[in-house]
Amino acid sequence: MKFQVRCFNIILLVLLLILIYFFFYHLRYIDDDGEPIGTVYITETRGRLDKSILTDYVKDKEDEYFSAANISVPILVWWTPFTYDTGSYTRCNNNNQARCFISNIRKYRDNKQFSAFLFYGTSFRLYDLPLPRHDHEQWSLIHEESPKNNYAFSFESIMNMFNHTATFKRHSDLPLTTQWLASIDDLLDQTYLIDVKEKTQLQTTENLAPIIYIQSDCSTPSDRDLYVKELMKYIQVDSYGGCLHNKDLPENLRNPVETMEHDEILKLVSKYKFTLAFENAICTDYITEKFWRPLKVGTVPIVYGSDQFQDFLPDNHSAISMLDFTTPELLARFIHELNVNDTMYDSYRHFKLYQIISNDTLLARTMSERKWGIHNDRVRGNFIHQFECLVCERIHKTRQDPTIKYQAKFDDYGCPPPTTFDKNGEKLERSGNWYRSYEFTRCQLEVFHELLDQKNYSFTEKDINNAATKRFAPSFRRNEFLR
Ligand SMILES: *[C@@H]1O[C@H](CO)[C@@H](O)[C@H](O)[C@H]1NC(C)=O
Ligand SMILES: *[C@@H]1O[C@H](CO)[C@@H](O)[C@H](O)[C@H]1NC(C)=O
Ligand SMILES: *[C@@H]1O[C@H](CO)[C@@H](O)[C@H](O)[C@H]1NC(C)=O
Ligand SMILES: *[C@@H]1O[C@H](CO)[C@@H](O)[C@H](O)[C@H]1NC(C)=O
Ligand SMILES: *[C@@H]1O[C@H](CO)[C@@H](O)[C@H](O)[C@H]1NC(C)=O
Ligand SMILES: *[C@@H]1O[C@H](CO)[C@@H](O)[C@H](O)[C@H]1NC(C)=O
Repeated sequence: MKFQVRCFNIILLVLLLILIYFFFYHLRYIDDDGEPIGTVYITETRGRLDKSILTDYVKDKEDEYFSAANISVPILVWWTPFTYDTGSYTRCNNNNQARCFISNIRKYRDNKQFSAFLFYGTSFRLYDLPLPRHDHEQWSLIHEESPKNNYAFSFESIMNMFNHTATFKRHSDLPLTTQWLASIDDLLDQTYLIDVKEKTQLQTTENLAPIIYIQSDCSTPSDRDLYVKELMKYIQVDSYGGCLHNKDLPENLRNPVETMEHDEILKLVSKYKFTLAFENAICTDYITEKFWRPLKVGTVPIVYGSDQFQDFLPDNHSAISMLDFTTPELLARFIHELNVNDTMYDSYRHFKLYQIISNDTLLARTMSERKWGIHNDRVRGNFIHQFECLVCERIHKTRQDPTIKYQAKFDDYGCPPPTTFDKNGEKLERSGNWYRSYEFTRCQLEVFHELLDQKNYSFTEKDINNAATKRFAPSFRRNEFLR
């Protein structure tokens, strides 16, 4: 009897959990303001989705949603599903003429209105591409993420395959460099601002280090942890994340994905004088929330990331560049100096204290010209939506005038090979596992382009990897890759 009751309770609990799971699952992934148009069911989501779920979804439902009906506007297909969009018409506010039909169902390729593929960089696979490519098919790349997610775009031969791009590079067709900054007001906001004297006091009363570091991805192409480890020998760094961990976050803040913009985290960061803003990979214009968060809360970022990050600062004196110092020891010495000189320290917070952003900075211009918003900006839409509109508009232009050409360049993404550090914080070229991964991609691309030259389109992932391994292995000299 007792056993049965307990069993029953457990079953109830499980059912409840399943219900809760589905409730949140839908809340998270489905955001449709859909309405049926003819036989085409419109589901529009302009947010980012869990791609694994999406792939299954499309495979299962493709026939149900595919429509053989007449479509009178250009068709764009997400080859790598990125939105929940099984079929919808663009609503682009800038030009009513430029309408397109968008779907993540690949079969639309056979429709005579088909015009362009959209690829999401992280899911781009050499063995799963619409090949052979037909002359009229335009290729579009959206890739706002770190180069570590897919090294293919660090090579010119792949970048040259695209006609339209939206990446973090300022020179791409739809630059996403400021993707992690909601607005200029966030930078001017003083909600979290703490007076320098109070920060100094907190170092004693709450036993805080001058510098805070919160990172949970510890083995990165930028090799940041090795540098930070060295730095820690010369100056105290409070590290709350999984990497080089030496201090615990309050219990309610331990899930990093959900809580990094949490009020309490921002409060914590704001107590510190300096924040390490080291990206996981180094590429021009690759700038993430690590860079903006300290600026938002009035802490000075020590930056290792885009080599031209200064262009995106509020003014020319609001961050410290790690690369300005030849060793971690010298950087530490400089931080010590700032730590005891309030005038010098606050000179880095001029924009914050006086709420002034020089409006001739690239940051100010970029933010005032930016067409998209973040956090489900209902007015401007997000950049996925804007990218679809950009491609759509360009398709209309090339239809009107077939002499118009669009060609992506290496610099629309193109990142340098990963490097590591030696003990003195000196950069090492051609070293480390990430560099191997980058070089392996080079071999895969060689194989890929040879197959294309032979007009062989029926190769598998294994074919490419086996051939690439053969090329990679002989040139792989162990000591070159190990520190
Ligand atoms: C498709 O469009 C053509 C031309 O407008 C029209 O003649 C035809 O009846 C349409 N077919 C369907 C199935 O709607
Ligand atoms: C930074 O900007 C200020 C004000 O515009 C200017 O006076 C100063 O020379 C600039 N400093 C550098 C290093 O560019
Ligand atoms: C702080 O730095 C400024 C500028 O370098 C310097 O003029 C000043 O003497 C320093 N103050 C102290 C207390 O060291
Ligand atoms: C800065 O921007 C404001 C508002 O757009 C404008 O009125 C002002 O002329 C600009 N100032 C400079 C120096 O460019
Ligand atoms: C798109 O890019 C391909 C590959 O570079 C090129 O052959 C084609 O002409 C381009 N299409 C347009 C419309 O520019
Ligand atoms: C295409 O390349 C793969 C991998 O090298 C090979 O197995 C296959 O036989 C080739 N197909 C043709 C038609 O050449």
